[in-house]
Amino acid sequence: MKFLLLLAQHDTDFRAKELIAIAEMEKIELNLENYKEDSPFVEVDLPSEDEARRLVQRSFLTRGIYRILAQGSSMDEVHESNKKNLAVYDEFMNKSFKVEFNCYQGTRSKESQLTEINNLGYTNLNGRISLKNPEVRFVFLEDYDQYNPTPKYIWLATLVSSTARSVIDIYDLKKRKHVGTTSFEAELALVTTNMAQIRKGDIVYDPFSGTGSFPIAAAYHGAYVFASDIDRRPLRNYGLNFAQYNTSKNFLDSLEMDFTHDAFQSRLKFDAIICDPPYGIRERLVVCGAAKPERFIGKEHILVDNELSHRRRDYIATKKPVELSTILQNLLDFAATRLNVGRRLAFWLPVEDRDVETTKIPLHTDLEFKYVSVQKFSKWERWLLTYEKRPHGDKGPEIPISLTDDFREKYYTRYRGQK
Ligand SMILES: C[S@@+](CC[C@H](N)C(=O)[O-])C[C@H]1O[C@@H](n2cnc3c(N)ncnc32)[C@H](O)[C@@H]1O
Repeated sequence: MKFLLLLAQHDTDFRAKELIAIAEMEKIELNLENYKEDSPFVEVDLPSEDEARRLVQRSFLTRGIYRILAQGSSMDEVHESNKKNLAVYDEFMNKSFKVEFNCYQGTRSKESQLTEINNLGYTNLNGRISLKNPEVRFVFLEDYDQYNPTPKYIWLATLVSSTARSVIDIYDLKKRKHVGTTSFEAELALVTTNMAQIRKGDIVYDPFSGTGSFPIAAAYHGAYVFASDIDRRPLRNYGLNFAQYNTSKNFLDSLEMDFTHDAFQSRLKFDAIICDPPYGIRERLVVCGAAKPERFIGKEHILVDNELSHRRRDYIATKKPVELSTILQNLLDFAATRLNVGRRLAFWLPVEDRDVETTKIPLHTDLEFKYVSVQKFSKWERWLLTYEKRPHGDKGPEIPISLTDDFREKYYTRYRGQK
């Protein structure tokens, strides 16, 4: 069956990969050879409406999927092709319906819309017209070139399924109770959960959780989430956000912990690891330890209320700066041992624009690299990298983390004129 995908027209580098990730998860064969980066329309062949629904239902960058009834370069061609396919209308008989227009980069006047709706008289649709809650939505989807009043292509189709886009507004940071300077925008945090194929019942971990943007997004799918951060402050009101989204039961725990010195039992495994590691811009890039260890010699036995100070719950561990590459290599190694086979790591990597050409995608022998999607800012980019844990014994190539060590340095000297 022929379907038309209507995609969001932003974050275009994420749209196709999000659909591929969902298709793989749902075991749907998806061919995106008609996909164009500069168009919101993609024609796809799928076995049935059920597959079409499953493909888009959890997509955040797709607006809807439509079953194509007729198509052409002009309204005349659309009606001609529609008349050759009238048998299909039998299934819409006696059903309430509505006819809509969805024009990309153009408009059609109300009068012209009415004319085209009346022109559909030959379909002999006999159901009730319902503008609010129709059983069938017929839609003319029109593709215009900017500033050209005539559409270059038109599809007549029925809406099969809307998508998860309405969730983005509910999870909007502006409406969230507990946010901070590091909170990650809701839309791409939710997209990250699709790249990582997070499903109901999964155990998901964010090792740099800050205010929890990724665990909150994972809990939306019904996953059980676990979070940690070296900074205890953002963890304080963590539960508020889960309560706001009615997902408190999905929040397992949050831990103040240096990710490079994790405290997990060796048998603990995760179904997904998703995160935005620290770049040192809005937050500290540190690990536990002393930059000048000599200052602490002889202070190991300091007592507070007869308790060793470093054993007390209120002890704040000394931290020392660390390079981003060390943190990221730790992250790949951690995912390689802690992910269940076939499950995913998705994380964000900052890349300065002068490094874009030379930065290599890091590879770990136990993780299969799946995709990279790029979000561009004026002078730097943020790459979303997705990996999948290989089956035991299956080894791939290795490329160590490179070139990002001085991201903080470059960011401050180049864009802010300061360090
Ligand atoms: C880019 S922020 C992530 C923000 C988070 N996604 C949110 O929604 O707020 C990176 C976080 O990593 C934490 N961090 C820095 N070094 C760390 C370490 N060694 N172990 C664990 N967390 C660390 C920082 O405190 C910060 O909260």
